Amino acid sequence: MTSVLYTGAAGRLGTVLRTGLAGQFDRVVLYVREEAIDADATEEVVVGRLDDLAALTEAMRGVDVVVHLAAIADEAPWEDILASNIDGTYAVFEAARRAGVRRVVYASSHHVIGFYPATERVGPAHPVRPDSYYGVSKVFGEALGRLYHDKWGLEVVNLRIGCFRPEPEDFRQLSAWLSHRDGVELVRCAVVAPEVGYLTVYGVSANTRGWWDNDEAAASIGYVARDDAEAHAELFSADDPAPSVHGGQFADPSYRGVGR
Ligand SMILES: NC(=O)c1ccc[n+]([C@@H]2O[C@H](COP(=O)([O-])OP(=O)(O)OC[C@H]3O[C@@H](n4cnc5c(N)ncnc54)[C@H](O)[C@@H]3O)[C@@H](O)[C@H]2O)c1
Repeated sequence: MTSVLYTGAAGRLGTVLRTGLAGQFDRVVLYVREEAIDADATEEVVVGRLDDLAALTEAMRGVDVVVHLAAIADEAPWEDILASNIDGTYAVFEAARRAGVRRVVYASSHHVIGFYPATERVGPAHPVRPDSYYGVSKVFGEALGRLYHDKWGLEVVNLRIGCFRPEPEDFRQLSAWLSHRDGVELVRCAVVAPEVGYLTVYGVSANTRGWWDNDEAAASIGYVARDDAEAHAELFSADDPAPSVHGGQFADPSYRGVGR
């Protein structure tokens, strides 16, 4: 049996994961900012900030696995990325070390490789080509995990998540889509797999037009995707512009994030 703490539990991923994985772990702690969260009786809620190392450490006492979701999940001004995604991720790893957590499952992103041309396949071993400050922050998180693994033995699974949606929303997502069902299974595998060491896998469904080699995910943590975005291909017209790079609009010099 495993006890799990989610950061960012009130967000889109957190909400779907908590429902999809309900009953799978013997203790679930939700570390949330100030948002109201509709927790059920089996979930413990801790309201705290990511920059509060003491509160994070306290919340992680007795926890086996931290699923670190809290972040700005889009491009944003550097100062905001720095506070939430870089300083915040440092605090989560450091608190995990201090509290004796066994593993951190880190919500990374495909935007760490977003500048690769759409004509090229990429696997976890390819050099990073981040497409945004956001992508750079995820490169940082993966590197920080490497340090905490090598120096202090913390187990780390980096999930380079594609586009986690109920259905693909644009042409690019025919390649990058991660269905809700596959996303729940991916995180379940990352939490329960024995002895992962330090590992990076893609969080993507079995898309016919996929770009990312993900054999490692099946071999290492037993993740086998079941959905294929191709089943939704009729949503998009053949005239829709094909993406030139994996990261889509994040690679556009004028892209500042949705609504910015
Ligand atoms: N949704 C996707 O398709 C996708 C794709 C790739 C990676 N990811 C990553 O997965 C994670 C979850 O994404 P999401 O879509 O659920 O995002 P979301 O914006 O819906 O949720 C993120 C949560 O993090 C919290 N948060 C942000 N900054 C914080 C801070 N400084 N202190 C405390 N809490 C803070 C927010 O309050 C929110 O509840 C993120 O790390 C994101 O980068 C998501």
